[in-house]
Amino acid sequence: MPNIQNILAIASGKGGVGKSTVSVNLALSLKEQGLKVGLLDADIYGPSIPLMLGTVGQKPSTPDNKTFNPIVALGIELMSIGYIVLKDEATIWRGPMMSKAIEQLLFQTNWSDLDYLIIDLPPGTGDAQLTLSQKAGLTAAVLVSTPQQVSLIDVKKSLEAFRKLSIPLIGLVENMSYFICDECGSKHHVLGSNNIEKFSIDNDISLLGQIPMHPRLSEGSDNGQPVIINSEDRLLTKVYQEIASKIDYEVRKIEKPKKSLEDIAVKTEN
Ligand SMILES: Nc1ncnc2c1ncn2[C@@H]1O[C@H](COP(=O)(O)OP(=O)(O)O)[C@@H](O)[C@H]1O
Ligand SMILES: [Mg+2]
Ligand SMILES: [Zn+2]
Repeated sequence: MPNIQNILAIASGKGGVGKSTVSVNLALSLKEQGLKVGLLDADIYGPSIPLMLGTVGQKPSTPDNKTFNPIVALGIELMSIGYIVLKDEATIWRGPMMSKAIEQLLFQTNWSDLDYLIIDLPPGTGDAQLTLSQKAGLTAAVLVSTPQQVSLIDVKKSLEAFRKLSIPLIGLVENMSYFICDECGSKHHVLGSNNIEKFSIDNDISLLGQIPMHPRLSEGSDNGQPVIINSEDRLLTKVYQEIASKIDYEVRKIEKPKKSLEDIAVKTEN
């Protein structure tokens, strides 16, 4: 995909750790920094991007009955199985069909010239990751975890899978890291503390940032108003902007294989 500069996968071992919430707010933070951003919801079994961006029920137009134009919301381009098939239809698809579907969403979407395509990967380390990594040519991946050991155990499997595929890992985002108490104003580490610092040292992966538990984050997901938009809560915006800046800085340092003119010519012909 010569028109996309960087393809960045957001992965976790487990579901429910906030991968989609992080993907959405990160995509919007990169956009705020003046970059052109697309977001692909590769979670075929549990697509949540349509809801999180207030675009449920929208249908992508197709100029040629073969490709889809992305849905556009809040200045980013979006594609999700949720825009295409009826609710719950995809839940019966097995591995190969799921991989095929992700591939189609990726390649049959008419993305504009993008600086970043963020991919919200399904949880796990199975077919979907392999397919994408091999076919899309991921630039890099970011891992998301909660502070709990159960989440970190699964993140470790993802980490090893990406390393085996030689995909650069930018770092780890800790979500639901702490809660700022209304009563005493201090940070409470509800899900545990220090686990992630130890994990990042032991596994030689950098900790990109720690996102607090905050009711605005879950409300924002449910009502299609992501927290970093219209938020009076500067803390959340700041945490996300810092993570986005670090990612962009690291991604720019990655040496990309130069595409030969021949490759590009062949791709355009197809
Ligand atoms: N930092 C946070 N604070 C509060 N709620 C959060 C936070 N991150 C995620 N959530 C909520 O937790 C739930 C799971 O998040 P989601 O992004 O859907 O996880 P995943 O994509 O990993 O399954 C959602 O209801 C979401 O709104
Ligand atoms: Mg999700
Ligand atoms: Zn307290």
